[in-house]
Amino acid sequence: MKGDKACGPVCVFDSGIGGLNLLAACARLCPEHDFVYFADNYNVPYGSLPPRKVCSLVDGIFEKIAALAPSAAVVACNTATALCVESLRKRYTFPIVGIQPAVKQAAALGGSFLVLATPATANSASLASLCIKYGGGRGEVVACPRLAAFVEDNIFSMPSGWEEELLPRRSPSCVVLGCTHYAFVAESIKNYYLRPVFDGILGTADHLRTLIGNSGGNCYHNQKIAFVGGDEQKNRAVFDKILNLKCK
Ligand code: DGL
Repeated sequence: MKGDKACGPVCVFDSGIGGLNLLAACARLCPEHDFVYFADNYNVPYGSLPPRKVCSLVDGIFEKIAALAPSAAVVACNTATALCVESLRKRYTFPIVGIQPAVKQAAALGGSFLVLATPATANSASLASLCIKYGGGRGEVVACPRLAAFVEDNIFSMPSGWEEELLPRRSPSCVVLGCTHYAFVAESIKNYYLRPVFDGILGTADHLRTLIGNSGGNCYHNQKIAFVGGDEQKNRAVFDKILNLKCK
C-alpha cells in the first residue's frame, strides 16, 4: 500500500479553479495543517471527458499526492469523486474526502430540487444512488455541458446573459450545485432561479476537520498553501482573491 506515513500536508485536488473555494474552507477549518492544491487546468472540463480518461488523469495526480505522504486528500471535484473516489480509497491508506452534490440538504427542504452537474457527474451511478438514497424522488439532475469551462475562463467576469444560455429553464424549490466550478457563480444562479442554492463546500470541509482533527489553535497566518500543476499562477491569484473577498 502506498501512503502509509500520514504526516504530510493535506492535498486538495480539482481539475481547475473549482476546488479553490473548498481549499479556502478547509484551510480555515484546519489552521494547523499545511495544504497543497493540485490542479490540471489545461484539461478542463473533466466533466466532458470519457470516464476512463478522467480516472487515468486523476490516477496520475494521486501518484504525485501519495508521494507527499499526505495527512489526507480532498477530492474537490464532484466529477472525480463520482467516477474515481472508490478506487482511490482502495489503493491508498490516507483518508480521502470527496465532495458530492448536497442532495440530502436540498431534499430536507421538502420540495422539488434541481441538481446542476457536469455531464459525467450527471450520468454517474454515484449521483443516481445518492438521489435514490436521499432525494425522496423529488430531484431532477440536469447536465450543464459548457458551464464549468465557461467559469474556468471567465472567472469574476461572466458576460451578462450567460445564465439564459448555460442554465436549464426550470422552476425547482431549490438548486444543488453539483460541480465546484459553479460555486463561483452561485449568487447569479440564485438570482436566476430565485431559490436557495446548496453546495457541498462547508459540509466537506467539516468532514475533513473531523477526520484529521484540530486542537483548536489558530495559526492560520503561518499556514503554508502551495499550488502544484496546471496554471499554478492563475490558481494562486484566484485563491488570493477569494481570501480577500472573504476578509471584506
Ligand atoms: N470542478 C469539477 C467538478 O466539481 C469539474 C469541472 C470540470 O468539468 O473539469 O465536477
